[in-house]
Amino acid sequence: MPLPLRLGINIDHVATIRNARGGAHPDPIRAALQAQNAGADGITAHLREDRRHISDHDIERLMAQIALPLNLEMAATSEMVDIACRHKPHAACIVPERREERTTEGGLDAYHNQVTLKPLIGRLIDAGIRVSLFIEADLKQLDAAKALGAPVVELHTGAYCDATGDDLVREYDRIKTAAKHAHEIGLECHAGHGLTFETVEPIAAIPTIAELNIGHFLVGEAIFVGFDVSIKQMRVLMNLARQGTDQ
Ligand code: PXP
Repeated sequence: MPLPLRLGINIDHVATIRNARGGAHPDPIRAALQAQNAGADGITAHLREDRRHISDHDIERLMAQIALPLNLEMAATSEMVDIACRHKPHAACIVPERREERTTEGGLDAYHNQVTLKPLIGRLIDAGIRVSLFIEADLKQLDAAKALGAPVVELHTGAYCDATGDDLVREYDRIKTAAKHAHEIGLECHAGHGLTFETVEPIAAIPTIAELNIGHFLVGEAIFVGFDVSIKQMRVLMNLARQGTDQ
C-alpha cells in the first residue's frame, strides 16, 4: 500500500515579491492561510541567514496564526537552531545555504558533515522538533542521515526537474531507489524542489514518499489562476498519480 501523500506549501516566494518593494504586500501569512483553506497539509518557510525573503517576524506570525504544521527550513547553524528551539515548529528541515546562490542548489552533505550536524540535530530533537535533512538522492547521504538520528529526509528533486532524455530517466531512477532505501532503513521520505504540474506526477507515484514540498511554481502559477486554484490542481495531480500506484 502506498503511504498517504501530504502536500506542504512553500511560501518563500510570496515574501520575495513583498520584499521587492519593502512593504507588507503580498503577505506570506495570508498566502499560508489561503494554502490552508485550499487543503494543504503543511506550510514550509525558509528563514535564510540573510533574511532575503522570510523574516523572523513572519515565523512568529506563522506560528501564531496558522493551524497547519510549520516546516522551518534552516541552515545548520547555532543561530538557526536557537530560533527553532524558541519557536518550536512541527519540523525543521536542514538545508545547505550559500549566500550567493539563487535558491537551495544541491543537497546537504550529511555524510561529510556528521561531526558538525550531530549536536545541532540533537538539540532540535531534544526540543521536540521533527528533523529532516534535505539531501541528494544518494544512498550514502541517506545512511548518514540515519546514523545522525534524523527521522526524515527530503530528497532534492531539482536535478530531476531540470533533466531531459536519458538524464531524466537516470535522475528519476535515482530518486525512486533512494525513496525505497529510505523506507527500508526506517526514514520517512519527503521530496521537493522545482516540482511543477508536469514533473510532479512521477514523483507522487513513488509509494514510499510521504510528503512533497512545493513553492516556486505554485506562486508563479497563482499570477494566472490564483493560489487556491494552483494548489488544488497540484493536489489533483498528486492524487491521480498516487491512485495509479499499486506497490
Ligand atoms: N524543499 C526544500 C528543502 C527547499 O529548499 C525548497 C525551495 O525553497 C522547496 C522544497 C520548494 O522548492 P520550489 O520552491 O522550487 O517548489
